[in-house]
Amino acid sequence: MKLDEFLRLNAPEDLAALTAAIAKTSIDVWDSVPFKSGLLTETNPSGETQKAIDVYSNDAFVEALTSTGLVAEVASEEMEEPASSKGSVSVAMDPLDGSSNVETNNPLGSIFGFYSRKLPASGRRLVGALYVTYGTMVTLTFSFGKGVHRFVAVREGGAMPFQLLGVNLRLPDKAEVYGFGGSRREWVPEVAAFWHSLEGKGLRNRYCGTFVGDYNQVLSRGGIFSYPALVKKPRGKLRVLFECAPMAFINEQAGGYASDGSGNILDIEPRALAETSPLYIGSADLVREVENAVSKR
Ligand code: AHG
Ligand code: MN
Ligand code: MN
Repeated sequence: MKLDEFLRLNAPEDLAALTAAIAKTSIDVWDSVPFKSGLLTETNPSGETQKAIDVYSNDAFVEALTSTGLVAEVASEEMEEPASSKGSVSVAMDPLDGSSNVETNNPLGSIFGFYSRKLPASGRRLVGALYVTYGTMVTLTFSFGKGVHRFVAVREGGAMPFQLLGVNLRLPDKAEVYGFGGSRREWVPEVAAFWHSLEGKGLRNRYCGTFVGDYNQVLSRGGIFSYPALVKKPRGKLRVLFECAPMAFINEQAGGYASDGSGNILDIEPRALAETSPLYIGSADLVREVENAVSKR
């Protein structure tokens, strides 16, 4: 089944149109990566040096989303202020996740949260979320609150339409993989102790340095991804609005749980657009175990 037909049958009209716009633009972003990997002099609101592909993907998705006339605003980790428009959906996005990995050709991603309220808003205001994985394949993984579904781009002549790959994806019962970001010597002791316990549980270390790529394999294999609290960065690195909450929404729809170390990521009421949080996401039992350990700090 092609994406447009699936969306017509299974998605609210506005989210269907936004998803179709993102799908089309994601192929343009993927095509542009080899030509836009240079470093720029500007920094983003999180103080990170921007790459040309960060800005290119940001501008391409802002244009694609605002031209639907369906978005009230598009907030991005690459922009100080949201781009505003006349629609009703507030979109928060990480237009290119993992851009520091472009030269090494690691998987990259784009993350989108569809909020029903003006931003910043809690993850409980999400009506849908989507992530693009740029890897061996380009896939869209998304949920509008009724299960998690996946499409893959397939070349047809000069175009790359998206074909159905799977519906109602669920985290497997058996947890197989784990991946923790940041450097181990910076982790708070409770995280280090939990991390060490995972090998004993028979899990395997699978880490590529891009949140989308690292989470994508947890969704397929079961386990846990974390960008944890660090001694010097107790609020972690990943942004609530643009990264943690949309992925937590999808993860919860797939039967998992995502925590900030004390409670559900989706309950955080971010006060600023670029607010960050420690993130523990994946199979519910493992996430609750590390939440238990960290919350006792
Ligand atoms: P972004 O490229 O959007 O800034 O995100 C990068 C994030 C995330 O993808 C990954 O999990 C994390 O940075 C890796 O951080 P370190 O390089 O500090 O390990
Ligand atoms: Mn990111
Ligand atoms: Mn990014």
